[in-house]
Amino acid sequence: MNLIESSDYNDLSRKAANVISAQVILKPDCVLGLATGSTPIGTYRQLIEWYNKGDIDFSKVTTVNLDEYCGLSPDNSQSYRYFMNHNLFRHINIDIKNTYVPNGLAKDYEEECRRYDNLISKLGGIDLQLLGIGHNGHIGFNEPDVSFEKTTHIVHLDESTIQANARFFETIDEVPKKAITMGIKSIMQAKKVLLIAGGPDKKGIIERALHGPVTPDVPASILQFHPDLTVVYCFE
Ligand code: F6R
Repeated sequence: MNLIESSDYNDLSRKAANVISAQVILKPDCVLGLATGSTPIGTYRQLIEWYNKGDIDFSKVTTVNLDEYCGLSPDNSQSYRYFMNHNLFRHINIDIKNTYVPNGLAKDYEEECRRYDNLISKLGGIDLQLLGIGHNGHIGFNEPDVSFEKTTHIVHLDESTIQANARFFETIDEVPKKAITMGIKSIMQAKKVLLIAGGPDKKGIIERALHGPVTPDVPASILQFHPDLTVVYCFE
């Protein structure tokens, strides 16, 4: 495990973007696993800046996102597809056809989960998976008590996650209650994992996840067993 402390959110974002950019430089046709949420926004902003300077080329990169809400269309401003298009994809030279997010409007969600797993395996697996962490230790939408054996699956979101997401919606009733997420097994199969955590409110859960017992109560704790884990954090 490689633990990298940063001085503030900008420094965290720059360090995380450096790890991603090194991956793209070393393997221009790599598969990046990406995350949404507040934490990666600065990382994406930094990558866009370096792209604009001519320092990174995304033309051969493929991306697969961790998760998507069930029932939200790609043009719904709260969908994760919308988030990715607006915070990264439309600002860089990635081919949008090579960016994948689970389909939140799939007619058959079980079939969508299998399709997503097959897609990842056809791509040859994920070279670098970027992760944020929830206050309850979730990664992707793998909530406490999840089975470590799961690949892509449907989840009923934890009450604390629904509450945390409510800030993005007008009313709590509009917050989706279900999501499609890559499973812990899918995440653990990534060749490298980059976990980013910023802010004093993430300190406790990072300590439990990285230094506490490995348990489904804290889904991120399984990352202690990943052979190539980098954690960039700042608790300021
Ligand atoms: C997002 C995701 C979530 C977030 C986590 C942390 O695709 O899978 O697990 O990474 O909820 O979110 P923030 O960064 O908003 O604290």
